[in-house]
Amino acid sequence: MLKDEYKKVVKQFDKYYDNYKDFSEMISLKYDHSYKVDNLMEELGKRLNLDEEHIYLSKIIGLLHDLGRFEQLKQNNSFSDALLDHAEYATDYLFKEKHIRDFLDNNYYDSIIEKAIKNHNKLKIEDNLTEEELFYAKMIRDMDKVDIYHQVASHLSHKFDFIPSEKVVECFYKGESVPKDILKNNSDHVLVYFSFLNDINFKESFDILEETNNFNEYTDSIKVTKWGPIFNVLQNDAKKIIEYRNDKEKIKLLRKEEDYGRIK
Ligand SMILES: [Fe+2]
Repeated sequence: MLKDEYKKVVKQFDKYYDNYKDFSEMISLKYDHSYKVDNLMEELGKRLNLDEEHIYLSKIIGLLHDLGRFEQLKQNNSFSDALLDHAEYATDYLFKEKHIRDFLDNNYYDSIIEKAIKNHNKLKIEDNLTEEELFYAKMIRDMDKVDIYHQVASHLSHKFDFIPSEKVVECFYKGESVPKDILKNNSDHVLVYFSFLNDINFKESFDILEETNNFNEYTDSIKVTKWGPIFNVLQNDAKKIIEYRNDKEKIKLLRKEEDYGRIK
C-alpha cells in the first residue's frame, strides 16, 4: 500500500534535502514548492476520482518531481535547465542509480513515476508513453504550474517593460508553449508564463488554479513599466483562457487575426 510507504518517502525526501539546504537560499523555496505540489496533486487526484492508492501515487510524484532542483542549485545556483536539466538529473539519480528504493520499496509504479518526473519540465510530453504514464505526466505538469505562479509572485520579480516579440505572441495565440530559445526580452518571459495556460490538461486543474488565485497573484506581481495597454490585452486574453477551460472551440475564437494585429 502506497499510503504506508508515503511516510518513508517523506522521511527520505527530508533527509535528502538536509544534505543540500545549506548550499543556497533558493533550495528551501524548492523544498516548500515540493510539498505544495504534493498537496495539489492530492487535491487533483481526488477531483479526478482516483482511489486512495493512486492519490498517494500522485502525492509521491508531486513530492519527488523537483528533487533534481537541489543538485541544480548546488552546482550552478541557478534554475537553468540548460546548465543542468533537473528532471534528467532526478530520473538518473532515482532510476538509473536506483535510489528510488531508498524512498519506496514497492517497484510497481516505477515507470509511471519516472516518466512523470522526466516529462514535467519539457516543452512537450514525449511520445509513446502508456495511457497511465501519460495521465500522471499531465497531472504533474498541471499542478507544478499552479504553484509556480505563486512561487514567482512571491520570490521573483517579473517585468513587462518592452514590446513582446512577434513570434512569442504568436505562440501564445496559437495555443502553444513558448520555447526558451526564442525569448528576447522581459516581456517575452511573462508570455512564457501566460502560455503555460495553453498547456493545462484537466478542467479540474483550471478549477484549482482559479480557486488558489495564484494566476492573479502572479499577474498582480508583474512590474509593468511600459506598454501597459498591450499588457492589458494579453492579460485579459490569458484570463479568458482560464475562463474557457479546455474548450478549444471558444479559445480558437479568441485567437483571431485581429488579436495579433492588436499586439503588433
Ligand atoms: Fe521542476
